[in-house]
Order: sequence, then C-alpha cells, then structure tokens
Amino acid sequence: MVNRILAPDDRALAEEKVAEPAVHHVPRGFSDKFALGFTKLLRVCADTFFAKKYGHRAIVLETVAAVPGMVGATLTHLRCLRQMKDDDGWIRTLMEEAENERMHLMTFIAVAQPTWFERLVIQLAQAVFYIGFFGLYLISSRTAHRVVGYFEEEAVISYTLYLKEIDEGRSPNVPAPDIAIHYWKLPADATLRDVVLMVRADEAHHRDVNHGFASTLSGTAIDQLPVAPYPPHANEIRMHA
Ligand SMILES: [Fe+2]
Ligand SMILES: [Fe+2]
Repeated sequence: MVNRILAPDDRALAEEKVAEPAVHHVPRGFSDKFALGFTKLLRVCADTFFAKKYGHRAIVLETVAAVPGMVGATLTHLRCLRQMKDDDGWIRTLMEEAENERMHLMTFIAVAQPTWFERLVIQLAQAVFYIGFFGLYLISSRTAHRVVGYFEEEAVISYTLYLKEIDEGRSPNVPAPDIAIHYWKLPADATLRDVVLMVRADEAHHRDVNHGFASTLSGTAIDQLPVAPYPPHANEIRMHA
C-alpha cells in the first residue's frame, strides 16, 4: 500500500508559522497582564493534573475551549441588537471558533476516553468557566479576548509537545478517526499526527484572531499579529452514511 501523507501544500500550511511556539503577544497594561497571569495559572493546574496524558488533556481542555466563542458571539449579538450596529463579522467568526473547538473535542473523544473523574472535572469546569468567562466578557471583552489569545498560545505549545510524544514513539500514531478525515478533508490513511497538525493550525488561527480582537478593542490594532492560516474544513460537519 502506498503510504500517502498530507498533500505538500496542506503539510506546509500546518507546519509553517504555527510550529513556532515563540509567537507571543507581549502584554501591555493591566488587562493584558491579568489575562496572561490567569492563563499561566491555569497552565500550571493543567500540567499538574494531566502531566503527559495529552489525549486526555485534549479532551478536557477542548470542552473548555469551545465555551468562549459561543459566549463572545452571544454577547456581541446582544450588544449589536441594543446598539443597532453592525458586528463587522465578529459573530460568525466567534461561532465558527466554538464549532471548530467542538470538532476538536469530537475528534479526540474518538482517540481516547475520559475517566469518570475527568468527566466530573468537565462538568464542574464548564459550570465555573462559563459563568466566569461570561462575567469577564461583560466587564471587559478586551480582556476576555486576550485571555483566549493566551489560552491558544498555550494550546499551540501543548499540541507541539503532543507531536513530539508521537514522533518519539511515546504516543501511538494511530489511524486518524473518520470524523477528522471528513472534517479536515484528509487522505483516507491519515494518522493522528496529521490530525494534531491540523488542530494546532486551528489553534494558531484562533490565537491570532483573538489577540487581534483584543487589540482592536484596546485601540492598538495597528501592532496585531498577522493571522496564521486557517486549514480548510468540510462545509457540512456531519458525516453522511
Ligand atoms: Fe481546540
Ligand atoms: Fe483553541
């Protein structure tokens, strides 16, 4: 059997730029510093809880990652209604982010199964994080988007470490789940490594979009990062039999 890999263009897209965990928004002012400090605190918690169980880490953290886009879309939608103004495309962008993160979750759930304790953590984390992020977005949407930008910086780092685990043989490079092959339009014999590359490219894109939103809200959009390319996704996310 021919060992097909991603088309060169796709692979270049996934490896390019986003492979640099060094992409970092330098915090400016209290809002940014708060966002970075909060992110680093959660990083320490995640590192302590999951250590190198990257599959399990991905499942639990993706249940959290899919929250901010929907909260941001909801509150931006309501604000646009109240102020009777255009959203400049923000609402669909944020809803797309939420859906994309949910597809990350559905992909990793096909690779690993959470323990009962992780399921409990997911329930509690969603209750606390949804309410907390909703409150933060109401108080300072700029800080909320900066928090997501920093979360996504950490996600890129985590998926880079996951790739290293796969490349060094500590995590098996199993076949890609069908849902991932469909969603990222991958070849039929794509592997987990190909999927993680695509997920990491998605995270890098969210990182730059959210840092950009935060900078726009703070009036410093002039120095925002160039946006990392977004991999192509299936238009219809549900697979048909
Ligand atoms: Fe994600
Ligand atoms: Fe993400």
